[in-house]
Amino acid sequence: MKADKLILVLILVLGMIVLNSMVSFSINNRGPEKIIVNGGRMGNIDFPHRRHQDALKDCKACHSLFPKKVGIIAKMKKEGKLEEKQVMNRCRGCHRERANKGMKAGPTSCKKCHNKDLKLGAQ
Ligand code: HEC
Ligand code: HEC
Ligand code: HEC
Repeated sequence: MKADKLILVLILVLGMIVLNSMVSFSINNRGPEKIIVNGGRMGNIDFPHRRHQDALKDCKACHSLFPKKVGIIAKMKKEGKLEEKQVMNRCRGCHRERANKGMKAGPTSCKKCHNKDLKLGAQ
């Protein structure tokens, strides 16, 4: 009887520890520092994920369009949930807008993003 209760308490405590670490992982998980983003037939993009997080401090600047998962943009395009260049227009739009205001920004010219030599999964 006593041993039973002890085991029950142990299971409860362990369960709480696991749950707690799962919650803090999902809060702290910022994903990879760099991601090779699938750019389709134009070639892939060497995308500095962490630098964007630090500069923008707003996950929704991108993740309001697609969930936090590597490869999801290409998948959603295939399923018709995103148009071709829909994400790209968000990327380029922000870069252009910021550059116009004289703020630190990213590239707007095709070849500064797209690179046909970049293989997916090479991060
Ligand atoms: C400037 C755009 C942008 C911003 C801002 C951004 N992300 Fe991402 N994130 C991406 C892209 C692009 C991917 C990869 C999508 C793909 O490969 O299709 C991604 C993927 C991820 C992943 C998936 C990791 C994996 O292994 O599957 C996580 C987690 C993530 N982001 C977390 C965050 C968090 C947290 C923030 C805010 C602090 C954030 N991101 C801000 C663009 C962004
Ligand atoms: C800031 C980075 C960036 C710049 C600059 C950029 N692109 Fe893109 N482009 C992307 C991303 C990311 C994707 C994949 C997501 C999407 O389709 O929205 C993409 C997708 C595309 C696609 C769709 C390919 C396919 O097979 O689905 C075409 C076509 C394209 N870009 C052409 C261009 C052209 C032409 C230019 C120059 C005028 C350009 N891009 C500039 C980031 C960029
Ligand atoms: C809301 C604004 C915003 C959005 C959206 C955004 N960027 Fe950027 N991007 C920036 C800023 C700001 C920088 C400069 C960051 C730095 O220098 O620390 C940057 C820099 C870059 C660079 C770095 C070029 C270099 O100097 O090495 C690349 C590549 C890039 N962005 C690609 C993308 C792609 C691809 C997307 C879409 C998936 C995207 N960006 C979406 C604001 C944005």
